[in-house]
Amino acid sequence: MKTDIQSIQYQPAGQFEATRFEKVHNVIFNDSKQGSLQVAREISNLIRDRSNKGQKCVLGLATGSSPVKVYEELVRLHREEGLSFQNVVTFNLDEYHPMERSNIQSYHYFMHQHLFDHVDISESNVHIPDGTVPSHKVQEYCKDYERKIEEAGGLDFQLLGIGRTGHIGFNEPGSHHNSATRDITLDHVTRIDAASTFKGVENVPRKAITMGIGTIKKAKRIVLLAWGQNKAEVIRETIEGKISSEVPATYLQEHENTTFVLDKEAAALLTRIDTPWLVRNCDWTKDLTHKAVVWLSQKQEKPILQLTDKDYNDTGMSDLLSSEQSSYEINIRTFNRLQHTITGWPGGKPNADDTNRPERAEPEKKKVIIFSPHPDDDVISMGGTFDRLVSQGHEVHIVYQTSGNIAVADHEVLKAAEVANLIGPTEIFAQVTQDIKGKTDKDYDSVLVRKVKGSIRRSESYGATRYLGIPDSQVHFLDLPFYETGTIKKNPLGKEDIDMMMGIIEEIKPHQIYAAGDLADPHGTHRVCLEALFASLDILKSKPFMKECWVWLYRGAWHEWETHEIEMAVPMSPAQVLRKRKAIFFHQTQKDGVMFQGEDLREFWVRAEDRNKETALRYQSLGLASYAAMEAFVRYDFNKE
Ligand code: F6R
Repeated sequence: MKTDIQSIQYQPAGQFEATRFEKVHNVIFNDSKQGSLQVAREISNLIRDRSNKGQKCVLGLATGSSPVKVYEELVRLHREEGLSFQNVVTFNLDEYHPMERSNIQSYHYFMHQHLFDHVDISESNVHIPDGTVPSHKVQEYCKDYERKIEEAGGLDFQLLGIGRTGHIGFNEPGSHHNSATRDITLDHVTRIDAASTFKGVENVPRKAITMGIGTIKKAKRIVLLAWGQNKAEVIRETIEGKISSEVPATYLQEHENTTFVLDKEAAALLTRIDTPWLVRNCDWTKDLTHKAVVWLSQKQEKPILQLTDKDYNDTGMSDLLSSEQSSYEINIRTFNRLQHTITGWPGGKPNADDTNRPERAEPEKKKVIIFSPHPDDDVISMGGTFDRLVSQGHEVHIVYQTSGNIAVADHEVLKAAEVANLIGPTEIFAQVTQDIKGKTDKDYDSVLVRKVKGSIRRSESYGATRYLGIPDSQVHFLDLPFYETGTIKKNPLGKEDIDMMMGIIEEIKPHQIYAAGDLADPHGTHRVCLEALFASLDILKSKPFMKECWVWLYRGAWHEWETHEIEMAVPMSPAQVLRKRKAIFFHQTQKDGVMFQGEDLREFWVRAEDRNKETALRYQSLGLASYAAMEAFVRYDFNKE
């Protein structure tokens, strides 16, 4: 995996030299942690500066996943570096409506949980739109909210996240650039994005109270945070697109002191990052050349070997051409590199020359760990490769990192309880039935119910792993503790999690590790599971057995690697596609409208098949062989990262 972006020094907006295409000052960090620390530093400097002058500091605050690490750092600065919030007045952007303050989904609850309960702010200085105001009084309430902001002297600093609709606050598409605090109907995409926290889209409120675009734009300083691949598209539109009410965040282009703070995944589609040859002269490294030629072939809709000098010259790549002999040479090199990623031997081909193969031929029989964040990602994301590894004689261990218990619906537990009861009534199942029936929306599952849910997923997993031919002794369930909260919100990764990950790696001493390389959601379980792996590898890397260990990353159900990134592509025959489908079917509780479906209503097996078919088609359109489907992997070199 390549980290070609260095963290860029955080500069004030005034010193920003606008890059072609970009209309908002932005800085890109290697990860959300680094970006958050800088933003927290800016806020704390402002608070201190105001305090030294005996002045108040008025902050506009956001909720959601984006600002969590900023608040964490502010709390740390308060505890460890004496940052006081005595002079701070806050106004939150928004709140669902209707919404009780005590509801764990409320923004009121969120702000207290993440910030206010841990610092010395005076409660009378805290303002959060009130989700309990009766509908007929909302308008008056909103006017009053605006007045309070003005009376406080206006917002000195406004922190923002951005929704995939381009909303800031809850100013959904269609919002006016002068809008004030008001009630608003939430966009469907926004409700889908909130569905997992509310355990289903039907529970997400339809309305909210939000500060307006006009309110936000009056802030003296604005910082918008965006982390993860999910935000990449809307970030490109907002920074490079035309100002439009369809993407309300584009209104920020008119604000003179705004900075977008991004991680590299959220910045990935900006022209200067994605296709830098369109913006400036490039240092044509091997990887950049490879990416550019794959891009060119897709853009010109021509197989790589048919690209001409004219194609290169017409698309900003003439300087690449001038440093090479001819387009033909570059074409051949790119074609060969892609060709060498294809292998039907993911564990290495015995007795074959492996100079140009993705995996080593030796040792002939490898020990393999497939880490699967939830019990089913193994078969959804790499079921074909899993099947091949087993049939080619490798010792394959499946390690399920979390129990996945949250994603099992209550009716599945009742079904299991009923079956058991029919055979012979037991106390445990009477208890389970009572726990489920007595549960209200706000309640967490009891430990017993979670246990049943986790067990259901275990037994489904065994169905799939037995079908693909591995003994139960090679199937391991870690039930990592960070996940076991009984709610959507998880604990931070702890030592115990890392120890468990290291324990299984040391026990098996694998030659190959496969893991979910998902970076889409910065706080999602896949990302945390990947962080747990990276942390373990970092500690273990000096051990002798690790010299023989190669790590391959697959992508979860949502996104696939870009073609130019792929370092191993494992083709599947039509028969293997069907075997993979059957393996996925064993995970029955995850079929039919599962809880965390998102907006893509296809079932997992359909998504997986479509995606694998698409990868094969992309290879074919670049001029390579035509397969039914392909699974894709990127190598992670833990010694370099
Ligand atoms: C939250 C808010 C929203 C969020 C946005 C992004 O107060 O106003 O605009 O900032 O929906 O949410 P996350 O950060 O969860 O991706």
